[in-house]
Amino acid sequence: MWDNNEKYGLISRLLHWGMALLIVWQLLSAASHNFFEDTAIEAFFWPSHKPLGVLLLALMVLRVLWALINVSRRPSSISLFSKLGHVTLYLVLIAVPVLGLLRQYGSGRTFEVFGIQLFAGFEGDKIKWMMDAGSDFHGELGWALLLLIVGHVAMAIKHRKTEQNVLPRMWQ
Ligand code: HEM
Ligand code: HEM
Repeated sequence: MWDNNEKYGLISRLLHWGMALLIVWQLLSAASHNFFEDTAIEAFFWPSHKPLGVLLLALMVLRVLWALINVSRRPSSISLFSKLGHVTLYLVLIAVPVLGLLRQYGSGRTFEVFGIQLFAGFEGDKIKWMMDAGSDFHGELGWALLLLIVGHVAMAIKHRKTEQNVLPRMWQ
């Protein structure tokens, strides 16, 4: 269950691969909104965007806590670059849903996910800075996340052919 110096444990691997699948779905829903507006493709993917985004943020909180608890046990990073890359992935995976939620809150509308009310909504003017922060950065940073993931996967594949094959640490 716990991580050790040679490999990530069950919980870390479940979080990594489970969230990887959810993030791919999340980016597909974002792409459906951008490229296939008002089509059956958007109607299929887009409704899950906000609930899944909130779920991903909740999972990120657990993942950060789990990483902190395991920090001294985890396999060590193969370079400063890989360590910075992983920290950046963490930061972006928190910032993107937080920006989405900021805009949602600032709109003053009631917000419910999975039948649970997160914001009650409010009367009066929208909160402009929250709306602007979300509108200016949420989508852009979301696409930057896609680029980071492509880079991350490319590095994992590249390292497979060297003595620094890190895939078994996360996979087996
Ligand atoms: C949405 C997609 C993905 C995200 C956000 C992601 C994120 C991360 C993060 C943050 C870590 C650091 C360990 C941790 O805290 O869990 C990590 C490790 C790792 N990831 Fe991913 N990952 C993704 C997909 C993939 C895929 C598709 C592969 C395989 C081709 C992969 C291979 C690895 C490997 C091998 C490690 C261990 C690296 C090491 O110990 O140096 N990841 N990933
Ligand atoms: C990890 C979680 C999330 C990721 C990766 C993500 C990613 C994205 C991306 C890439 C876009 C741009 C789509 C386009 O170019 O049209 C987008 C748009 C959007 N997202 Fe998210 N999102 C996440 C969470 C959330 C959350 C939690 C909310 C709200 C509660 C939200 C609400 C929206 C809305 C309303 C749009 C359309 C407006 C816009 O383009 O800014 N997202 N998201």
